[in-house]
Amino acid sequence: MKVEELYAAHLDTVLRSHERALERSAAAGRAYESVIVHAGSELYVHRDDQPYPFRPHFHFTRLLPLPGPDHLVEIRPGCRPRVLRVVPRDYWYEAPAPSPVPLQRLVDLEEVESLDDALDALGVRAGRAFVGDDIDLAAELGVDEADVEPEALMASLDYDRATKTAFEIECIRDAARRAAVAHAAVREGVDARTSERALHFDYLAAAGLVEDEVPYPNIIGWDAHAAVLHYTSRTVTAPDPGGLLLIDAGASSLGYACDITRTYLTDAAPDELRALLQGMDRLQRTLVEAVAPGVDYVELHAHAHRLIAELLVEQRLLRVGVEEALEAGLTWPFFPHGLGHHLGLQVHDVGGRQIDPSGTLREPPEAYPHLRTTRPLDVGHVVTIEPGLYFIPMLLDPVRQGPRAGAIDWDLVDRLVPYGGIRIEDDVWVRESGAEDLTAEVVPH
Ligand code: GLY
Ligand code: MN
Repeated sequence: MKVEELYAAHLDTVLRSHERALERSAAAGRAYESVIVHAGSELYVHRDDQPYPFRPHFHFTRLLPLPGPDHLVEIRPGCRPRVLRVVPRDYWYEAPAPSPVPLQRLVDLEEVESLDDALDALGVRAGRAFVGDDIDLAAELGVDEADVEPEALMASLDYDRATKTAFEIECIRDAARRAAVAHAAVREGVDARTSERALHFDYLAAAGLVEDEVPYPNIIGWDAHAAVLHYTSRTVTAPDPGGLLLIDAGASSLGYACDITRTYLTDAAPDELRALLQGMDRLQRTLVEAVAPGVDYVELHAHAHRLIAELLVEQRLLRVGVEEALEAGLTWPFFPHGLGHHLGLQVHDVGGRQIDPSGTLREPPEAYPHLRTTRPLDVGHVVTIEPGLYFIPMLLDPVRQGPRAGAIDWDLVDRLVPYGGIRIEDDVWVRESGAEDLTAEVVPH
């Protein structure tokens, strides 16, 4: 199917999602006739005339792939959405690009020259909810502060975002294809021990993206830098020892992100690290294959800890059995983040801890406070599977100084600390039939 047709079907689904949200909001005691969604405004550096890179509000992008700030859309059940596209007449900055998909057939589209004109066109009216962060703007449309992002409405919209339409899956696939070319370019620079900064530029050039266009800052770290989970310094110098490179980098398409991590070794890496990388690769594949509708992601995360415990015991980093290691929480200092997260418009997408459309949250277990997804997996969800194994002195030192010190081979840990750690990440679509890995097929392991 062509992207235009996919988008038309997507918009239909998203409009129904808004209608459901309005119904649920009414049932919760806040009834509205319509909802206005704002694309967001540019934010300026304090006391300066430079804006920060603009990122549209995600609920707006879900409706309309319109680049640029200020646009407004009003959604009224049973009617075509009314879109006010703001195209300033300006010779300092270029006008925002038009929609990459034709909208005329699907929405009532009006072009105006300023946000004020958009506000005038919409007028002041009662019975509206507002989705956006600008309370003053909402007031100009007749919306009280209490009706800006009201809880029940937002909970319903957030919940629905986890279930991806065919259009959204195609966007994530397209993002993955772009990222794949860039990951391949970086891989070519590994054996030559190219600097992090040069690899970062190689990535952007191959993806055809500038810094502001990647969905999250590229994480490209040699050796011990791989142990900083969100490392972004990108050193200019050649790495030393240059044994391990971790790259966690994505791309976007029409606002949808992919999120891909690979870890590569050079011939400067010790054999123990190679065995650990092979083990992590195997267990990551096992975890991806376990993804299916109805799977409890919290249990999958706990299973990842078990598989990592088995690997650590097998590779003699742990000197105790798997059960004892798990009971004593000895895998946590090696794997201190969650197994992954929902993915979509946001890299860490909304609703990952929301177990129903009314907003009930399932907090992560005390042992795993960083787990972002606790919601059972369902058909149409996209989640990342990104187990990690790191040598982070800050987390390991307390064990070394504590009563369980004898459980770990510290000589081996000390040999591995200079190589940082391992993470392998793919984006997995939950289908009736099980898991479909959207990234492993384009970015080889
Ligand atoms: N790709 C970065 C993260 O998932 O936190
Ligand atoms: Mn991730």
